[in-house]
Amino acid sequence: MSEPNRTTTSTPKDTATSGADAESVTPILQARGLVKRYGHVTAIDGADFDLMPGEVLAVIGDNGAGKSSLIKALTGALVPDRGEIRLNGEAIRFSGPQQAREHGIETVYQDLAVAASMDIASNMFLGRELRRTGPLGSVLRMLDKKRMREEAAAHMAELKIGLRSLTQTVDTLSGGQRQAVAVARAVAWARSVVVMDEPTAALGVKESGQVLDLIRQVRDRGLPVILISHNMPHVFEIADRIHVHRMGKREALIKPSDYSMAEVVAIMTGALTVGSDGGKATVADAEAARAAGLPTT
Ligand SMILES: Nc1ncnc2c1ncn2[C@@H]1O[C@H](COP(=O)(O)OP(=O)(O)OP(=O)(O)O)[C@@H](O)[C@H]1O
Ligand SMILES: [Mg+2]
Repeated sequence: MSEPNRTTTSTPKDTATSGADAESVTPILQARGLVKRYGHVTAIDGADFDLMPGEVLAVIGDNGAGKSSLIKALTGALVPDRGEIRLNGEAIRFSGPQQAREHGIETVYQDLAVAASMDIASNMFLGRELRRTGPLGSVLRMLDKKRMREEAAAHMAELKIGLRSLTQTVDTLSGGQRQAVAVARAVAWARSVVVMDEPTAALGVKESGQVLDLIRQVRDRGLPVILISHNMPHVFEIADRIHVHRMGKREALIKPSDYSMAEVVAIMTGALTVGSDGGKATVADAEAARAAGLPTT
C-alpha cells in the first residue's frame, strides 16, 4: 500500500482504471457518452461510467450534477437520448426498471419502496411471491407464506441482520432496520449489481454503521455496489473508487486513498481538476481552492 497522497501537486501512483487490477478486466457495468435532455435542460451531458467486478463505487456530486439521472439511465428508469450501456461487455438497452432487474441489477431507492403495512418476509418477496405447489398455487394463486418466511429468515441470518420476528410489519421497524430490509431484498435478488441511492441519509450513527457493514458484506459476496452519497466520511470509509459527477458528466474517477476529502470536494465543485488518468490534480479555480483551504501553488 502506498502512502495516501494528501497534496494537490503530487501524482498518485495508480491510475483510475486500476480498481480491479487491470484494463483487461471487463467492467460489470459501463456507459459511454450518455446524453439525456429535458427540453433545454441537459441532465446527462456525455457521461461515461465504469463499474468493475467486486468494487464499491461511490458516485458523488453537487445537487443537480446529474447523479440520479445517470443512475436512472443505468437502471432502466430512464432511456438516454444517446450513448451506449454495456452489461458484462454486452451492449444493452433497458426499456424499463423491470428489464434491468431481470438482468440482475437491483436498486435500493432513496424512498426505500418497502410496503410499510406488510411483514418483513412479504417485503422480501414483493412482486416475486412464492405460490403453493399444485392447484392451490397455480389455480387459486395461494401464497406459500411458510416457505417465504423460512427463506427470508435464512437470508437475514446469512447477512447477520438481527430482527426479532419476520412477521413484524415494516412500519414497526426503526429506520435502520427498514433500510436493512430494503438492502437485504436487493441483495437477495441481485445477480450483477446492487445500486443504493443515499442509503444512510436518514439514519443515525449506529444505523449508518450497520448499513455500511451490510455494503461490505455485499461486496464480500462478490457483488459490486454503486453507492450514491453526499456523506464524504462514509464514502471515504467504504468506497474502493469514487466517480465524481459534475455538470452532467464524469469529472473524475479516483481512489479515495489518493486524495483528501477536501480535495475530492474541490474536484466536485470545480476548484480542482484531475487528468483523465485519475492522476495529478491541478488547480482550476484558485479562489475556490483557497476557499476550500487547499494550497494553490
Ligand atoms: N424529469 C426531469 N425533467 C426536467 N429536468 C430534469 C428532470 N430530471 C432531472 N432534471 C434536471 O437535470 C439536472 C440533473 O438532475 P439530477 O436529479 O440527476 O441531479 P442530482 O445530481 O441527482 O441532484 P441531487 O443531488 O439534488 O439529487 C437538474 O438540473 C434537474 O433539474
Ligand atoms: Mg439525485
